[in-house]
Amino acid sequence: MNKAVILAGGQGKRMKAEMPKPLFKVLGEPMLEWVLSACESADIGDICVVKGFKGEMIDEYLGGRYRTVLQEERLGTGHAVMQAIPFLEEDASGNTLVLCGDAPFIDEATIRESLSVHEKQDNAVTVITAELDEPFGYGRVIRTDNGISGIVEQNDANEEQKLIREVNSGAYWFRTADLIELLDKLTNDNSQNEYYLTDTIFIAVSEGKNAGAYKSENADIIRGANDRKDLLELNNCARNAVIEKHLANGVEFLCTDGVIIERGVEIGVGTEILPGTILRKKTVVGKNCKIGPNTVVENCTLGDDVNLHTVQAYDSVIESGVKIGPYVHIRPDTTIKSGAKIGDFVELKNSVIGEKTAIAHLAYIGDSDVGRRVNIGCGTVTVNYDGVAKSRCVIGDNCFVGCNTNLIAPVKLGKAVYTAAGTTVTKDVPDYALAIDRGVMKINEGYTLRKLKSKLNKESSK
Ligand code: UD1
Ligand code: CA
Repeated sequence: MNKAVILAGGQGKRMKAEMPKPLFKVLGEPMLEWVLSACESADIGDICVVKGFKGEMIDEYLGGRYRTVLQEERLGTGHAVMQAIPFLEEDASGNTLVLCGDAPFIDEATIRESLSVHEKQDNAVTVITAELDEPFGYGRVIRTDNGISGIVEQNDANEEQKLIREVNSGAYWFRTADLIELLDKLTNDNSQNEYYLTDTIFIAVSEGKNAGAYKSENADIIRGANDRKDLLELNNCARNAVIEKHLANGVEFLCTDGVIIERGVEIGVGTEILPGTILRKKTVVGKNCKIGPNTVVENCTLGDDVNLHTVQAYDSVIESGVKIGPYVHIRPDTTIKSGAKIGDFVELKNSVIGEKTAIAHLAYIGDSDVGRRVNIGCGTVTVNYDGVAKSRCVIGDNCFVGCNTNLIAPVKLGKAVYTAAGTTVTKDVPDYALAIDRGVMKINEGYTLRKLKSKLNKESSK
């Protein structure tokens, strides 16, 4: 069976952070996750990650999804793969893909096509390459009439070899049984005193085995990040690629300033994305929506014709035709049913808001079930937390909740209940009733004048 070894031992000193380099994020996901998902989409699920610097952070991130092995000392790419020999030996019948955990743009097509070349040419090793205008720093690929004879690192290359523009991406297919044998023969006899994985190619060729190269059409597969500036470039590259995909699918962007769309997001045709919109994780946006400006949506499902203006929404469902904003916070586990309107300075949490219900301004609705065609007045608060426990409020269909109503949970308003403005509701209200909770209003005539007079008297006696 085919499997993969991912090298993730690097520290990335120039990142200036105590974190393994493959955990730095590109478009919201660690670079390592991009590499893992490329393997998965090419149907390679048997994966061993070689960790090194702060390896425990890699384990913590993976949460047991993949096995890992520790490279205690950083003695080169060949040495890193050697740490995975027990993993390779478990089933040496197929091929092994070796990838770098800090080169996030390796893609499914490159993995699949290079494997088919590897198998067709009956190679012991097939290196995945790309052609660069500026090949400085990379290992150069030495082609021969019937394959390649090896890879020469920058520091070991002669003037003629330095002119070669086809470079090693750091990704390879090996016949697993050959890889195990070749690793055993590696030495660190070079300018860096490292065990170069690339030397396996010279060794294979010297033993009469086939070695080949597959040149990817996607030169981005080679890109990695040595410092934060490089990382920003990777983010820009990924960001533009995602936006281009949505443009091709019929999504409209008047201007992409501040627009960040993670690669797992789906957007329907005819939707317009305005500046400052950030769409994260598994967000799905329907057709003909208008999202933004200045909106963050994370892990939400939006129907068609949804309008979000200056909204933050997390882990929630927003059905078709809902209009929200500006300045609205939708916290997790909220469902807003179709046709509802949520206006400015409203916070919703763990609640269901019924069809065509309006919460036009300045309200907090948490842990509540709100029915259809309800009107929630300005300043309404569900008092869902007593300092110890959270409780739910139920508001029936067609209720009219007056301004500044407090609903002390757990409490239930029946169908078509009115609450008078300023009411604090402490017990359930039956269908069609009015709840009113007010002291008798008193009027103290002439109060202001008396107060003014006494102030003037005091000042004149000073
Ligand atoms: C390597 C290749 C070079 C290629 C380049 C592509 C070798 C000798 N050279 O060079 O031909 O053009 O990648 O980027 O392989 N790693 C470990 N443990 C180690 C050393 C490295 O896990 O002891 C990991 C790194 O974290 C990284 C990957 O292996 O993910 C590549 O290592 P790096 O040091 O970047 O290799 P280069 O010298 O750049
Ligand atoms: Ca490198």
